[in-house]
Amino acid sequence: MAHDTYFTDGAAYERRLGRWTRAAGTIFLDWVAPPAGARWLDIGCGTGVFTELVVEKCAPATMVAVDPSSAQIEHARSKPVAQRADFRIADAQSLPFLDEAFDVVASALVINFVPDRPRALAEMRRVGCPGGLIAGYVWDFSAERSPISPIRSGLRQIGANLSPVPGMEDSQLEALNTLFARGGLKDIATRTIDVTVSIPDFDDFWRAQSAPYYPTGKVIASLSQTDREKLIDVMRARLPAGPDGSITYSARANAVKARVPE
Ligand SMILES: C[S@@+](CC[C@H](N)C(=O)[O-])C[C@H]1O[C@@H](n2cnc3c(N)ncnc32)[C@H](O)[C@@H]1O
Repeated sequence: MAHDTYFTDGAAYERRLGRWTRAAGTIFLDWVAPPAGARWLDIGCGTGVFTELVVEKCAPATMVAVDPSSAQIEHARSKPVAQRADFRIADAQSLPFLDEAFDVVASALVINFVPDRPRALAEMRRVGCPGGLIAGYVWDFSAERSPISPIRSGLRQIGANLSPVPGMEDSQLEALNTLFARGGLKDIATRTIDVTVSIPDFDDFWRAQSAPYYPTGKVIASLSQTDREKLIDVMRARLPAGPDGSITYSARANAVKARVPE
C-alpha cells in the first residue's frame, strides 16, 4: 500500500516536505474558513504538520487525527501538538468513528494516495455531520507541479527509471470535483494553491530529497557514483541558487471543499 512505501520515516518526511505542507496548508485553511469551536478530523495526518496548523489557526473544540502508518503516528505523538490532538492509527477507507461525529473532515496531501478514493469519500461523508465541511488538497502530480517534481524531472533527465506517483490522475481539480460530486456532497468549490518556498542552500535540498525513505530517494540511493554526480549537476542547473545560496521554487496544490447535505 502507498503508505508503506512512501511514509515510513516521520523526521525525514518533515525535513523533505514539512515547509511545503505548512505553506500550502495555511492558504488552504484561510480558504476553507472553518468555524471556531468545531469537532475536527484530520485524515492521513502523517507527522501532524497540518494538524498543528489547524490547532494554531482554527481553535478546534476537539481534534482527532488518523494515519495508517504507525511510524508517522509515533512521530506525531512525540510532538507538543499531541497535547491538543488525539492521534490514532486508522485508514481513510474504514474510519473507526460513529456517523455524523465531526463538523470538519479534512485531508492534507492524502487523497491521491488512498487506493479506493470513492470509498474514502463515502467514509468522510458518513462521519461528517449534516452541513459539515469536507475538504482536502493534493499536490498537482499530474501536471508535475509538486515539490518533488524537480527531482523526478532530474532523475528522468539522467535516464533513471521512476514509477508513477500513486493516484496522480486524481490530483487534478476536475478529478477532485468529480470525486466529491459522486460522493453526494453539495456546495462543491475548488481552487489551485500556488506556493513558493526557499530552501537555505543546495546541500539542504539535496539531503532532504535524497534521503533513502521514499521511491525517489531509493532510486537515488541505487545510482552509481557517476550518475549521482550527474544528477547533482542537473539539479544545480535546474534549480540555480540565488545570491545568498538559497534554492527557491514553486509548487501547485489543487484543493476542494464541500458540505454534507442536511
Ligand atoms: C504527503 S503525506 C501528508 C501528511 C500530512 N497530512 C501533512 O500534510 O503533512 C500523506 C499521508 O497519507 C497517508 N495515507 C496513505 N494512504 C492512506 C489511507 N489509505 N488512509 C489514510 N491515510 C493514508 C500516509 O501514511 C501519509 O502520512
